[in-house]
Amino acid sequence: MGLLDGKVVIVTGGGNGIGRAYCLGIAREGGTAVVADIDEKAADGVAKAIKDSGGKSLATKVDVANFSSCQEMAKKTLDAHGKIDGLVNNAAIFMSVPAEKGSWQEITEEAWDRIMAVNVKGLWLSSRAVVPAMQQRKQGSVVNISSNMAFNGGLTMMHYVTSKAAVVGFSRVLARRRRARSRITSARLRPEFLNGSSSPKIWLAPLSICYPI
Ligand SMILES: NC(=O)c1ccc[n+]([C@@H]2O[C@H](COP(=O)([O-])OP(=O)(O)OC[C@H]3O[C@@H](n4cnc5c(N)ncnc54)[C@H](O)[C@@H]3O)[C@@H](O)[C@H]2O)c1
Repeated sequence: MGLLDGKVVIVTGGGNGIGRAYCLGIAREGGTAVVADIDEKAADGVAKAIKDSGGKSLATKVDVANFSSCQEMAKKTLDAHGKIDGLVNNAAIFMSVPAEKGSWQEITEEAWDRIMAVNVKGLWLSSRAVVPAMQQRKQGSVVNISSNMAFNGGLTMMHYVTSKAAVVGFSRVLARRRRARSRITSARLRPEFLNGSSSPKIWLAPLSICYPI
């Protein structure tokens, strides 16, 4: 018997890196992992790997910075499974942050806006699309992925670090509102630095190195 038997959990950005590991872990614990990613090929690949090993999964393309795309993600999940028990707001621009890794003065406005649109607004839009289905059933969990860098700062990537600090504020508001009105919970995790491409085996136990905030 698994910890997530019968549960349906959406993981945004589930096609690569840590999100992929969350999906594999959810399926390993008996849940249905809904792999939602802007990278459709990667999402399909993760869902196939899960199904090939006997687990339950659904792939869906989503751009978390676009509300109608988030609504489509929720609808596809509800049409297939009738409910949503969990939402892991994991999608972010991180590994792909480009040359603006240099000084904060060199960050372009375009790069700043895109990071905020995906890493901050994306949480809000995904939650707005999914939480109503949880509210109807008066249960569900939302997990937002922040970063240790939100607390420690960083010498580079000011836009990324700022976006991850916003995740904490967002989560606190959601937690207070949800606690006040229903049994829906909201939590934050802050992973330590991990690099999926250079050390893929580290994904075997991602949650053990994530700390609740
Ligand atoms: N890797 C680390 O060391 C580390 C440390 C702390 C926090 N985090 C956080 O963990 C999460 C995952 O990090 P990662 O290292 O696996 O990143 P990653 O770059 O490997 O994966 C991010 C995923 O999000 C997807 N994505 C990007 N934009 C999207 C959009 N608009 N809509 C939907 N999907 C989108 C990408 O396609 C990719 O699959 C992020 O929230 C990151 O900020 C990572």
